[in-house]
Amino acid sequence: MSSRLVHLCGRLVPESEATISIFDSAVLLGDTVTESTRTFAHRPFKLDRHIARLFKSLKVTRIDAGCDAATMLRLTLEMFEANRSLLAERDDCWIVHNISRGRSVAGPDPTVQQGPATVMIYTLPLDLRGWAEFYDRGCHAVTAMSRMVPSQALDARVKNRSRMAYTLAEIEVKLVDPQAQGVILDVEGKVAENKGGNLFAVADGCLKTPGTANCLAGISRETVLELAAELQIPARETDLLPYDLYTADELFFTSTPYCIMPATRFNGLSVGDGRVGPVTRRLLDAWSARVGLDIAGQARNQLRPTGTSEA
Ligand SMILES: Cc1ncc(COP(=O)(O)O)c(C=O)c1O
Repeated sequence: MSSRLVHLCGRLVPESEATISIFDSAVLLGDTVTESTRTFAHRPFKLDRHIARLFKSLKVTRIDAGCDAATMLRLTLEMFEANRSLLAERDDCWIVHNISRGRSVAGPDPTVQQGPATVMIYTLPLDLRGWAEFYDRGCHAVTAMSRMVPSQALDARVKNRSRMAYTLAEIEVKLVDPQAQGVILDVEGKVAENKGGNLFAVADGCLKTPGTANCLAGISRETVLELAAELQIPARETDLLPYDLYTADELFFTSTPYCIMPATRFNGLSVGDGRVGPVTRRLLDAWSARVGLDIAGQARNQLRPTGTSEA
């Protein structure tokens, strides 16, 4: 079986040869910006939007990737094409970008980029099994004890790999329920986001999601807002408190791998009637229609033995 090729600093190399220095700022400082895109039926989804967000993160963090967005797109597609034959017909993949400031030099000023950035681009199989059952029964959303790093310290719109705060918050949530999905509040107690996703509540037929003052401007969040406009579902950005999630008719997370993940319990209480709601279903169906693939069906198929699939 041929091995995966990854893009490392301008070259396509076998995964086993893709090594970086232990002195890289990715390792020493968590000083890395990132993107995660997915494919649908082997076609990258909104790759240009992900790369546009990547270049905003690069600008704000003052990392020079050594190329412009158009070149980054071309290099990404070359890497993806080189690995296309490894994709099983019914599966899809991640396309991940990690770009660090490069070699970190110990001393009084770690901020200066001393040499080329470390540019890493690779594909990964998209394993949806951990989310598959939530499309039908919904997940349990639980608030973490820890709060978001405030945007006054690190703007939540910078998609970065300094993930300690998110990881600790998710560990707290898993103490309550090992299958729970975290809801992180900001320092004022407003709903911010999940460690890897955004949140939406539906109340009185209106879709509500926090503005991006305290969360990542998710591409899936953006897609849901586009679909809502097409379906004429009223939607608005607004502050949400835990009270709004307890009393919502429907609740869901959005993120690149699973797209829309319904939540039917919040901190132990049923959301609405405790079942996945009609607005959530309409949005997920519209997304599936847009990409020509049954999103939930693909995830469920991964739970089945190879060779069997949903009709
Ligand atoms: C902290 C955080 N919030 C939200 C999201 C959702 O963003 P997207 O829809 O672009 O995947 C992510 C994605 O990884 C994330 O890391």
